[in-house]
Amino acid sequence: MDSTNIFLYLLVSSFLLLIFHLLRTTTRRKLHLPPGNLGLPFLGETLQLISAYKTENPEPFIDDRVSKYGTVFTTHVFGEPTVFSADPDINKFILQNEGRIFESSYPGSISNLLGRHSLLLMKGSLHKRMHSLTMSFANSMIIRDHLLVDIDRLVRLNMDAWTGRVLLMEEAKKITFQLTVKQLMSFDPCEWTENLMKEYMLVIEGFFTIPLPIFSTTYRRAIQARGKVAEALGLVVRERKKETEKGDRKNDMLAALLDEEGDSGGGFSDEQIVDFMLALLVAGYETTSTIMTLAVKFLTENPSALAQLKEEHDEIRARKGEEETLQWDDYKSMSFTQCVVNETLRIANIISGVFRRAMRDVSIKGYTIPKGWRVFASLRAVHMDHDHFKDARTFNPWRWQTNSGSSSCSSVNVFSPFGGGPRRCPGAELGRVELSVFLHHMVTRFSWVLAEQDKLVFFPTTRTQKRYPIIVQRRNPVEANS
Ligand code: HEM
Repeated sequence: MDSTNIFLYLLVSSFLLLIFHLLRTTTRRKLHLPPGNLGLPFLGETLQLISAYKTENPEPFIDDRVSKYGTVFTTHVFGEPTVFSADPDINKFILQNEGRIFESSYPGSISNLLGRHSLLLMKGSLHKRMHSLTMSFANSMIIRDHLLVDIDRLVRLNMDAWTGRVLLMEEAKKITFQLTVKQLMSFDPCEWTENLMKEYMLVIEGFFTIPLPIFSTTYRRAIQARGKVAEALGLVVRERKKETEKGDRKNDMLAALLDEEGDSGGGFSDEQIVDFMLALLVAGYETTSTIMTLAVKFLTENPSALAQLKEEHDEIRARKGEEETLQWDDYKSMSFTQCVVNETLRIANIISGVFRRAMRDVSIKGYTIPKGWRVFASLRAVHMDHDHFKDARTFNPWRWQTNSGSSSCSSVNVFSPFGGGPRRCPGAELGRVELSVFLHHMVTRFSWVLAEQDKLVFFPTTRTQKRYPIIVQRRNPVEANS
């Protein structure tokens, strides 16, 4: 390119950028959008977001914008202008008005992996019915009477094999996968479940290849693996139908799905059931295993919290024999554990927020969110806000401690790690119980040290970079009984 061409190129680019900027400013004034910066053409502020969330301290991305524009601002991330809310009341409004004013919206790449009949993509009355069906399979009574015994057994079974160096994140994933498969279709760990898990992990990787999935080999591999997982689950559905015809009835999610009527009368198709099961496998797996790993990380970094937790669980174990299964009453007596669970959920923010789309023009706090615009209700921003939680960025499980039954933490009503409204996580209680049982066996059976330094990052998901390697040492059972 000679100098005249370079000059012309620069002139045209500057002119286009100027037009682009003017158009956006005029549009914003006309619509009265929340203030903010749409960043570069096409890319918006995606790169700033990714580089903040790839560090251990992503907070400045939100802090800077909240201090400049307030708790509701406009940005442009992952290919679309987005209204970002760090305000608990607006978040609540967004979540509660699911299906009326806002609707959940996932990028096409995610929808393809989930399958079109997944609960996460369902809308309207079918969503309502299937959400409550899922709840009915993960509520307190079902956990107490059926699931707890399996959770206890499968956690122990996996931990029995632990020696020396353990990659905690991998182990937690294995446990949560086995638990979900058991809950969905009553299968205990075997070669089949192991093979399924291998394929399934390739599917999971595909979820985190945004923003350019079409060009990614990981994404293509994920789509192929999804096909194999769906095929394997389809076979299970067909086998189960035959067993049911012969009068053999199981008490699991698959049985409930086979009993359920589809929207147009008659039962659900095999494809619908497979999509539904796959989505449940996805929703409970990454979240619960990450929270297990991070609880251990935060406890390792906070010896006094770990000591108090150990005391609570040693007392429970001392009341029971070494091998006796945990009962619902034991779970209910884990009061400090619940403080640790809450604080881990608050600080880790596995689901940092939820995307929705405005179904019509919406007025909020004097601003307009135009119809079709994407909004992001940031749960993380609220949980990490000093106005709502004192010393919000410090791990402090004691903030949840109850004095005469009520938590000393004044911000319980803005604490929403499981979302809210019609899409509130149906696995919330189950996730809590799984984490509590995991912590019980972890602290009563092992002491551990970190094998090597590991870093927490928040993009593409919340995870530690090295899968949290620890060296475990078995505790003497007598110690636990003493
Ligand atoms: C500690 C672990 C967990 C966390 C932090 C978590 C968090 C969340 C959040 C924030 C949502 C709301 C998403 C939205 O509004 O768009 C959600 C939805 C969901 N969660 Fe969980 N979850 C956890 C464990 C589980 C488990 C164990 C299950 C298994 C049953 C599960 C199943 C689901 C499903 C099916 C949805 C979709 C609900 C719908 O769209 O109607 N989650 N979860």
